[in-house]
Amino acid sequence: MLAREHPISLRRSTQELADALGQVYGSRFVVWRTDEFVFGVRAGELVLRSLGGVDLPAPAVVLVRQVPGSMNYDREVTLLRHLERMGAALLNPVEAHLLCRNKIWQLQELALAGLPVPDTLSYATAPLEGVVHAVGLDMPWVVKPVTGYQGRSVFLARDPRLLREMAPTLGANTSLALQQYVAPSHGRDLRVLVVDGEVVAAYVRTSRDGALASNIARGDVGSPCLGDYPQAESLAVLAVRALGLAIAGVDLLFASADCFVICEVNSVPGWRPAMTSVVPAILGCVSRRLVAHPCALDPVDARSTRRATTRWQSNG
Ligand SMILES: Nc1ncnc2c1ncn2[C@@H]1O[C@H](COP(=O)(O)OP(=O)(O)O)[C@@H](O)[C@H]1O
Ligand SMILES: [Mg+2]
Repeated sequence: MLAREHPISLRRSTQELADALGQVYGSRFVVWRTDEFVFGVRAGELVLRSLGGVDLPAPAVVLVRQVPGSMNYDREVTLLRHLERMGAALLNPVEAHLLCRNKIWQLQELALAGLPVPDTLSYATAPLEGVVHAVGLDMPWVVKPVTGYQGRSVFLARDPRLLREMAPTLGANTSLALQQYVAPSHGRDLRVLVVDGEVVAAYVRTSRDGALASNIARGDVGSPCLGDYPQAESLAVLAVRALGLAIAGVDLLFASADCFVICEVNSVPGWRPAMTSVVPAILGCVSRRLVAHPCALDPVDARSTRRATTRWQSNG
């Protein structure tokens, strides 16, 4: 498992997954953080090294548990790419994380696959003041950073003038998406978890304070609804397939009582403790990748490799 740098603690669902993988794979499983490696090329070969100076083989399977929105292109993304190019099977593949990292990239793919998404506009280097003028969407708009996550900075803009006035601060270092407001879904969405093409959990998330965004990370409420919205579950499976993900959380917006549009697809989803079907499904997914990997015949003791590398850290 690859998780964020120290000292950031593992998310609850990531810890649950790590515990389960540790139980199944014992010393073959280990959690690494992104700040524990150097990597590059030596004598024409791709190499991976711990900070303790130990050369590491590429793991057979790497379960990535850092949300792509918090990855830096030239750091974490490059490390993921390196692992993949060394032969590791990444869950999810780096290309899929990249699609999920940018809300416009994924909307491009979903729209090209013929799947329903809200009308959305973004821009390259145009000034936000000009973009607001040119957008041509009915007000209000949902405004969100294209690489945002956990409902941070998602808001409803009811007044273009206000948005124009805020533009110098809002758009300074962040690309924004301006999106059609799906009013029936205000403060409410449907999260569907998909693993290897199967729906393994679904829940309706509701914001507690009437806010637009209904992310659990904001402390919002989730109630299980697996099987209640078959049409939405089928749509989630198609979205995940279009983006090439093995493990995904799809956020769907209620466009009407029985009609959904895709809000976004997450490549590192979390889940509630009560959703006991998710971890076994991910274990199955990992197991299938391991069986398919050439190193299945010659498993590595990842934990002892890890122990040999902690010397640098303990010596400071
Ligand atoms: N176009 C929209 N119309 C209505 N609600 C929306 C819209 N876009 C997002 N939301 C709400 O805001 C939440 C967060 O938006 P999302 O695009 O998923 O960003 P994040 O990556 O921060 O989770 C969604 O789960 C949903 O509740
Ligand atoms: Mg979301």
